[in-house]
Amino acid sequence: MSRFWSKNTKNLTPYVPGEQPKDRKFIKLNTNENPYPPSPRVKERIQNFKLDDLRLYPNIEGAIIKQAVAKHYDIPERQVFAGNGSDEVLALAFKTFFDNTTKVGFPDVTYSFYPVYCALYEIPFVKVPVKENFSIDFTHYGKDLKGIIFANPNAPTGSYVSPDVIEELLKERPDTLFIVDEAYIDFGGESCVPLISMYDNLLVVHTLSKSRALAGLRIGLAMGCKELIEGLVRVKDSFNSYPLDTLAQVAAEAAILDTQYFNDTRQKIIETREWTQRKLRELGVKVQDSMANFLFVSIPGISGPEALLKLREQGILVRNFSMPKISDWLRITIGTKEDMEFLVQTIKKIMAG
Ligand SMILES: Cc1ncc(COP(=O)(O)O)c(C=O)c1O
Repeated sequence: MSRFWSKNTKNLTPYVPGEQPKDRKFIKLNTNENPYPPSPRVKERIQNFKLDDLRLYPNIEGAIIKQAVAKHYDIPERQVFAGNGSDEVLALAFKTFFDNTTKVGFPDVTYSFYPVYCALYEIPFVKVPVKENFSIDFTHYGKDLKGIIFANPNAPTGSYVSPDVIEELLKERPDTLFIVDEAYIDFGGESCVPLISMYDNLLVVHTLSKSRALAGLRIGLAMGCKELIEGLVRVKDSFNSYPLDTLAQVAAEAAILDTQYFNDTRQKIIETREWTQRKLRELGVKVQDSMANFLFVSIPGISGPEALLKLREQGILVRNFSMPKISDWLRITIGTKEDMEFLVQTIKKIMAG
């Protein structure tokens, strides 16, 4: 700590991302990365990139990505915002739409970055309990909330809410802004993006880190009505005009336009998830239904932190969150089929003592 830290800086408890080990000896199932490489078109695009283009500042609007996203979702470009990873997009969204006079709500079990943004900007918030089966309970969100934020599918549980349920909420609460974080939507869920043309109280956030296998490139998106996007641009341009570099923009464009590769790899992940879920349940492991590229599991008779350590000793990294309701649960990313075969064998051994 330095005496120059502001009061707010002193009070922050930053988000702690999953471990990125220096050596490669682990099977890495702890940060929901994609086990497959990015589209081969990304490699081709980077190899053909003209180095001289890096002399100039990137396109300020992220136009290259916005065009590709607009084409993919069949929406106008002015309804797309691009930023440096969806963490940045979310951080800008909290700053754009809320302040210390507006309260926001999110589930007590969800992406643990949301309360961190609230602390950073001093936004009052309330955590609303999820149901016993970990699904989101929308009946207890107070009428005083200016914003409701949740991940769909939710993290780390994998639970999913269909767009028709979300549409009902948008209608019931026209003065509440819903931020739906669809980081994992491409693994079997149906996106709410089509609703943005009808509701001005919906912002949908996406990332290229998961289903497009580009976590290292840092591309996040937001889609919403033109006025919501204009607000995000105002805040971005008051902070960093160029969050996306030129190389990232062209590589992301190549990934977004390669629909065939995108569909093939996400389908493989979905199939491996269903296989792993079945195998773990056969062993007697508790496994939540999941629409994401991870499973939320609890091994009977073994605490979450202990299970995490035992798996780590066997070379498998997973995630455990030390929060009361979920401390005995592990979030396990879906890797390749071979990774998951090894995981199932290892859990079997651990259970046999
Ligand atoms: C629910 C959710 N939202 C957003 C993110 C951030 O993704 P990124 O910043 O890589 O786009 C993550 C990453 O794990 C996540 O789980």
